[in-house]
Parts: sequence; structure tokens; C-alpha cells
Amino acid sequence: MATTSGRPGIFAVRDVRSLITETAEEGHGLKKAVGATQLTAMGVGAIIGTGIFVVIGEGAGIAGPAVILSFVLAAVACTFSALSYAELASSIPVSGSAYTYTYATLGELVAWIIGWDLILEYGVSVAAIAVGWGGNLNAFLDAAFGVALPDAIAKSPEDGGIFNLPAVFVVLAITFLLIRGVTESARVNLVMVVIKLAVLLFFIVVAFANFGTGNFQPFAPEGVDGVTAAAAVIFFAYIGFDAVSTGSEEAKRPERDLPLAIIGSLIICTIFYVATATGALGIASPQQMEGSDAPLAAALDQGAGISWAAAVLALGAVVAITSVVLVIMYGQTRIFFAMCRDGLLPQRLAQVNQRYGTPARLTLVLGVLIAILAALVPLSEIVKLVNIGTLFAFVLVNIGVIVLRRTRPEMPRPYRVPWSPVLPLLGIAFAIYLMTDLPWDTWVRFVVWLAIGMIIYWLYGYKNSRLRREQSSTPNWAREHDPQRPEDGDPS
Ligand code: ALA
Repeated sequence: MATTSGRPGIFAVRDVRSLITETAEEGHGLKKAVGATQLTAMGVGAIIGTGIFVVIGEGAGIAGPAVILSFVLAAVACTFSALSYAELASSIPVSGSAYTYTYATLGELVAWIIGWDLILEYGVSVAAIAVGWGGNLNAFLDAAFGVALPDAIAKSPEDGGIFNLPAVFVVLAITFLLIRGVTESARVNLVMVVIKLAVLLFFIVVAFANFGTGNFQPFAPEGVDGVTAAAAVIFFAYIGFDAVSTGSEEAKRPERDLPLAIIGSLIICTIFYVATATGALGIASPQQMEGSDAPLAAALDQGAGISWAAAVLALGAVVAITSVVLVIMYGQTRIFFAMCRDGLLPQRLAQVNQRYGTPARLTLVLGVLIAILAALVPLSEIVKLVNIGTLFAFVLVNIGVIVLRRTRPEMPRPYRVPWSPVLPLLGIAFAIYLMTDLPWDTWVRFVVWLAIGMIIYWLYGYKNSRLRREQSSTPNWAREHDPQRPEDGDPS
């Protein structure tokens, strides 16, 4: 239905019912093939990766042993937003995650901003994560066989190489997998998730078997400021539970499976992270971890003197990061899919391939673009940029819950955030709190990114928006007197 009573403007909102109906349009419908276990694995697959295997070192450097508290703080911050994601994902089981929810609540302009912002969280971070994958692969080859790829084909120009071949390889391999179909991809992901949980468990067991309390003094050398600053960085380790919501259109029972998978994957990861961080500091000092590209392997090697374990850890990191690339890239293709379908990006790209039931063309285009980025982009600073973009998305998702409760109180909500609006407001407060702990140059980059997005919107999306075109072709009086037009407050 026409969803705004006035002219189609930049704040026009999509109707929830039409959003859901469109998913069944011929050529635009995705296969409903994913269950709760696969969705939870998708969450864990997106969450456990570079954060715990690499970024933990930076966190320990900032907060000292109190980085354990940073993990808890980041998890608490995520929990409130996870509940809001669960409510929106179960009520609006449509591709596009925060982008789609915002379109249905805060209007087109804000939806575009968030969609553009999510490209940062998903697309750009995949390139960075793939670079981390390449680094760990090299560390494994070195530790296990004493051979490593030469820098020229294993590093970006800024890091002293020409291009990063392993990163390109992993992005293109995952692209192929995603084109082949989500069921196959989810199955592969499940195997990888089991392997990485086993590797982390291995680390925890070995670390606790060699545990000492010496490294815990002083516990918080930088005080509360250190804990929060580290949490703003460590937050990266939790990014991914929202990726579950990007697959909502393909979920078999979204109303039950989505909240279960989002919250379940967050709880599983928090338990593993706190245990891993505690174990790591039981065997290595924050300085030993901070100075390494593979801090957990370094903790076992330098801290506990168990060098063979470095190879096991590096291999574990390679597997872990592979599944992160898979799920985050999956999320990116689905968000792009939704944006194309809405005409904010070229609609031609959103065709679903008849043979595979996936948006193959779009996946290929994205895969190639991300591979080019991965070949050339250095890892540094990307983590913080991705964090600020993701936290911004959290703010808008929480606002979306509050707004939608007011504007569509009767909408079926298979899952409801308890004590709304208190918990969504806490989600907003925590996200803003962590954002303010990120450095100013991260803010500058973020604002530049959003400015580029605004230019693209005015040049393309504003003119081609499907919502605006549909509304423009229906005169106001016809919209207002349309007998088919559902009453305001009509349940979807
Ligand atoms: N949470 C994901 C990771 O740590 C992005 O790699």
C-alpha cells in the first residue's frame, strides 16, 4: 500500500505487509531452506573469528588483564541490541536486516544511510577479514612446514607487498559457494563452526592446565577508561549475530528460529570469549599478546612454552575466519539484494538465478569487488571503522523497535523485546557509549563514508526508488480513497 499520506518523500516508509509479499514475487523469492540450528551456526560462524584470534591482543594492550571485563561489557552492549534485532527479524522476515527494518520504520533516507553503513560492516570488513585469513594461513604454513608465501603475493602494497593472493583466493572461493546455494553453504559452515569451537576449547583446556595468576597484576592498569576503550575495539569480536537476521527470508520458521539463533549464538560466543581471555592471561602477559599477529598462538608458544600448539591455533584461526568470511559475505549479498529490489541500487542485479535459487549475479559482482579490495587493503584501522558503522546500525535498529511499536502496535510480533522501550533505550545508550570511545579519526572516516553514500543516493537511489515510483504513479486522492487500501492499523 501507499504508506505515507502525503507526497512520496525521502521519509516514505515501506509497508511491512508489502515487504513480506514481495519476497514471494517470481524471480525475487529466495528458497526457505534454513532451520534454527543452521541459523545459530550462521551466527557463531559470523561471530568467532578475527576478533578472538587477533583483536584480543590489541584489547589486552589497552586494558591489561581487565580485557576480560571488556569482553563482558561488549557482550552486555550487544545483548540489548540483539533483542531488538530478534524482534524486528521475527516480525519482518525479509532480506536486508537493519536496512529493511529501517525502511519500514524510519523511512527511505534513513534506510539508505543504514544500508550504505552496513556495506561498511559487511563488505569492507570481509576484505579485512580475508586479509587476516591470509596472514593466519601463512603463519600456519610457517609453523607447520617451515614455508611461507613471499610478501609480494601475501601482503597489500601498504604492508610491503604487491597484492594479497590468499585473501583474493578465500573471497572468490566463498563467492562460488554462495552462488551454488545457501543450503550447501550453511552445511559447510556448520562443519567449520564445530571445528573452530573445538580449537577454542583446545586452547582453553591447555591454558587452564598451565594457568598462573602472575599476569593478573595489575588487573586494570588503565582503570575504567581502559576497559571501555578496549570494549569499543573488542566489540568487533561480537559482530555477526546480526548476520543471522540477514538470512531471515530463507528461514523455515522465522518467528521461532530467529530469536533463538540470534540470542543463542551471542550467549555461546560470550562464554567462549570470557573463558578464552581468562585462559590466555593465565599463561601470557598482555604485552606478549599485544605484540603478536596471532595472540592466542603466541600465548601458548611464548607464554606456556608449548610451541606445537601455535600451528594448531593458526590452523584453527584459518578455519574460524573462513566461516566468518562466509557468513558476513552472505549477509552483504542479502542486504544488497534488498537494496536492489527496492531500486536504490540497480534492480537488474537482484534477479535470482533459476538453477541455484540464489542472487548469483549480484554475489559475483560483490565477490569480485571485495576480492579487489582484499588484494590491496591493509587491515589496520578497518576494525574500528567497521565497529563504528555497526554500532550506528544498532542505534537505528533500537530506534526502529520503539518507533514500530508506536506506529504499528497491532503488527504480529512473534518475538517481543521485554520491557520496551527500556531495553531498546539501553541498547542505544550502550552503542553510543562505545562509539564515543573510538578515536576521532575513525569518526572522520565514518562521516566521509556516509557523505559518499548521500551523494550516491541523490544521484541514483532518489530517482530510481521503487517506492517513490509506485507512489508517484498513484495520485494522492486515489491513494487516500482506494477501497483496497488497508486501514491504518490493519494487521499485516
Ligand atoms: N566477529 C567477527 C570476527 O571476530 C567479525 O571476525
